[in-house]
Amino acid sequence: MDQDLSNKVVLLRTDFNVPTQNNKIVDFTRINESIPTIKALIEKKATILIVTHRGRPNGKIDTKLSMAPIAIEVEKILKKPIEFIDKIGQRVKNNPKKIFMLENIRFHEEEEKNELNFAKELSKMADIYINDAFSVSHRAHASLCGIPKFLPSYFGLCMSKEIESLQNSLSTPKKPLLAIIGGSKILTKIDILKNLNKKVDTMIIGGAMANTFLLAKGISIGASLFESQCIDIAQDIINDAKEKNVNLIIPVDGKVAKSLSMNAVAKNKNIEDIETDDMILDLGAESIKIILGELKKAETVIWNGPLGAIEYKPFDQATIAIAKELARNCKQKNIKVVAGGGDTIYGINLSKCVKDFTHVSTAGGAFLEWLEGKTLPGVSAILDK
Ligand code: 3PG
Repeated sequence: MDQDLSNKVVLLRTDFNVPTQNNKIVDFTRINESIPTIKALIEKKATILIVTHRGRPNGKIDTKLSMAPIAIEVEKILKKPIEFIDKIGQRVKNNPKKIFMLENIRFHEEEEKNELNFAKELSKMADIYINDAFSVSHRAHASLCGIPKFLPSYFGLCMSKEIESLQNSLSTPKKPLLAIIGGSKILTKIDILKNLNKKVDTMIIGGAMANTFLLAKGISIGASLFESQCIDIAQDIINDAKEKNVNLIIPVDGKVAKSLSMNAVAKNKNIEDIETDDMILDLGAESIKIILGELKKAETVIWNGPLGAIEYKPFDQATIAIAKELARNCKQKNIKVVAGGGDTIYGINLSKCVKDFTHVSTAGGAFLEWLEGKTLPGVSAILDK
């Protein structure tokens, strides 16, 4: 792209769909990750028009989901004023280094319907389009897929970093490749597990979904959470892993309690010793040891899903121990670790070593679809040009 963009208006699609409480942002990651692109554009003297979304207003104006409070926070970070606009189709006045932000694009029903005319109207507002919103690029929406049809289009810095890290870890990984998949539901991760079986050398299953795998192997899990409709699916995944020579690791012990509560009395039990009223709420000491041993061999690791009931101490311990080991391996052995998904990031943050990971994705749903092996519409809209 040209060094001097002083005559250009750049429409920058970001994902400022950040978690808030009482309209106060509680996690700035997505905003912080978009700052390098905004700063680079300021340096190139572009006029910047930020287009973004918040929540799911279903094509209607919902003042609770206005971008206005978010714009104020971005202004504070950039130490630059942002002019808020809500009219679509009118070209933004060229004004080098000036930043505009459009009201929540999802207030218009045409956005999620991916209407071409709407995308055309949006494109009239600028000369260049940049997508820096990887975390929403699994949505075929007008501001992601439509605009590239009308404007020269590029990836932003955050978007490029996401795509590069993800490609390096799954398409062209340094082997052995190990995946850690946790969380509570197999149902939402069937396609991920199937796709990963085709690619990885080792797959570690943790979290409540490991219970269904144990049941599929005929092991009794007491009062633990499981998905009755997924027992056969778990069995298929076990068989498929065997066929593909994937080293599938499921827990050999667990941290159990009689109920799920903060600081519940927890005991380490071998999987064979689980009693009918025991709930497996985290990996046990031996399972953690086995996983740490496997991590020593891995050159690339992909991680999605916490390994225990991390909202309740002490059931966050396996997730923290493994996050710490991965961070150490990234730092000392230069292995590549890519993690993503909302709960995963929360879990890794508990370990306080997130900065040492090779890449922690800003995405939830988009990261999962990428793990499933899907092409993300917002990515292909630009690559196909
Ligand atoms: C996200 O938070 O995952 C993205 O902003 C996408 O939001 P959506 O799931 O409402 O499309």
